[in-house]
Amino acid sequence: MRRKYVAGNWKMNLTLSEGKALIEGVLAGLPGDCAVDLAVFPPFVYVHPLLGFLKGKLEIGAQNCYFEPSGAFTGEVSPVMLRDVGCHSVIIGHSERRHILGETNGVLKKKVVAALEAGLKVIYCVGEKLDEREAGRTEAVLHGQIHEVLGPDVSLERVTIAYEPVWAIGTGKTATGAQAQEAHAYIRREIGKLYGPGVAESLRIQYGGSVKASNARELMSQPDVDGALVGGASLKADEFVGIIKGAMAAQSGR
Ligand code: 13P
Repeated sequence: MRRKYVAGNWKMNLTLSEGKALIEGVLAGLPGDCAVDLAVFPPFVYVHPLLGFLKGKLEIGAQNCYFEPSGAFTGEVSPVMLRDVGCHSVIIGHSERRHILGETNGVLKKKVVAALEAGLKVIYCVGEKLDEREAGRTEAVLHGQIHEVLGPDVSLERVTIAYEPVWAIGTGKTATGAQAQEAHAYIRREIGKLYGPGVAESLRIQYGGSVKASNARELMSQPDVDGALVGGASLKADEFVGIIKGAMAAQSGR
């Protein structure tokens, strides 16, 4: 059985002291029997100072990295540097990086490979825009994002996929359980074609896009939804804890 995985993507938000208070609030609210995997992804500059605050209950990751280990790449941070300070994982291919910062599938493949080589875990994001969904192109877009980045040359052992429909991110418009399930099942089928049924069955696929405490359980109760990548609601300790409790309830079938 796949263990649920809930991650908070803070995006470009919070000060260091607000981040510390948020983590302390989340840890204080966590049920003692929390049996789901948890991580937070603060901005780069907070990764190292926040590592001491996690008390082994949460992992910490970065929201991006470059694909070279070192060199003349002003302003970039390498996956080797992230590992060096104790960072556990990295988000690659978030829609804001694809659509605001112009990252292509080709660049993202290099980033996924470099992050895995450095020993990081990876959350690789995929998802269609509203016009693509309305044009009936959801599966075609996901197909490209999967097949142009993953494949037999990229081990999925330390990879989680996050399905984040762009129209649901920060809009308050969540995919229904059925819409999420349909996309997740498609992603798992495509992974099965690339890697075989065993790898596809064990791969975790998170849903992201306006996840809140009130819809977390319904979304994560779908058979192919193995967790959540949470933006806005991860900035409030009580909401994030509510989402974690929703994941626990979905996992235990309660
Ligand atoms: P929201 O939860 O704010 O919609 O953001 C989702 C997201 O982009 C997480 O990576």
